[in-house]
Amino acid sequence: TLPKAVRIVEVGARDGLQNEANISTETKIRFIEQLSQTGLTHIESGAFVSPKWVPQMADSSEVMSRIERRSGVVYSALIPNQRGLELALQAGANQVAIFTSASEGFSQRNINCSIADSLKRFEPVMALANTHGIPVRGYLSCVADCPYDGPTAPEQVARVARELSELGCYEVSLGDTIGTGTPLRIAAMLNQVGNTVPLTRLAVHFHDTWGQALANIYQALCMGITTIDSSTAGLGGCPYAKGASGNVATEDVLYLCQGLGIDTGVNLQQVAAAGWEVCRDLGKQPASKTSLALMAK
Ligand code: HMG
Ligand code: MG
Repeated sequence: TLPKAVRIVEVGARDGLQNEANISTETKIRFIEQLSQTGLTHIESGAFVSPKWVPQMADSSEVMSRIERRSGVVYSALIPNQRGLELALQAGANQVAIFTSASEGFSQRNINCSIADSLKRFEPVMALANTHGIPVRGYLSCVADCPYDGPTAPEQVARVARELSELGCYEVSLGDTIGTGTPLRIAAMLNQVGNTVPLTRLAVHFHDTWGQALANIYQALCMGITTIDSSTAGLGGCPYAKGASGNVATEDVLYLCQGLGIDTGVNLQQVAAAGWEVCRDLGKQPASKTSLALMAK
């Protein structure tokens, strides 16, 4: 049975814009402020990672310090280590997200260490976040396939998801980083992970590279998942996953939920408008079928 309501975690300003080289700080700020007016309650607004690794996120401090905030909205940031947490706190992040991978190859390429070392590195990060009362989300990449190691065993996904959860992450977001998953494989993975982490503490984070994200989301919804990560205008990708395209578009998820009678609390038209505006600055069209269809009406 389908849930009555779902929570959308908007990742466009981070996962989306981390792949865009020519985008001004002003545009990022306007995009986040516009998203804040749509009913979205969780906006990932930047990443405090090494600027040598991802220069696109180097202005996250400025972005997060300058955005006009709306009460009731969580402005979160991605962090790989203690340094990232300190910078995120300074910039006023309400929440942070740590990230690792279910596969060794991607962990090495993305954060330059093994899965085990990343989890060790997160222990003091978690402790510091706790003293500041900052909730920590956990991302787990490559839950279907890894661009370096091939298919990931569902048992392996379950093992690392459990470790993130036991570290103290209030939620673990399961990332199909390269978007190769299809519904039956996603179902097998969710079944396995659901044995160790309650479904209410899991989110799905699907990239749409192979056009399967909405089908996989429908599968996840049918199994009781109630948190969906998505990116306005389908912006996104990952600098360390070659060829990975954007996340599933928020507009497409909203239209799907509307049709299924699932409440999101988010205004589709306003999200689409924010997407068109940021895409105008990027010089491209939104990668959202729903947004294009709305425009053509
Ligand atoms: P490293 O080179 O092993 O570590 O990188 P390091 O400690 O030697 O640091 C290198 C330099 O970065 C040093 O500067 C540090 O000070 C600096 P230098 O001394 O050479 O001048 N540094 C930092 N600067 C700012 N903020 C920080 C920070 N940390 C170190 N927090 C490290 C290790 C983890 C830092 C690096 O690999 C890194 O930043 N990786 C991030 C990669 C990334 O952002 N990937 C994209 C996001 S993940 C994603 O998109 C997947 C997701 O969407 C889910 C999915 O779809 O699957 C979440
Ligand atoms: Mg991602």
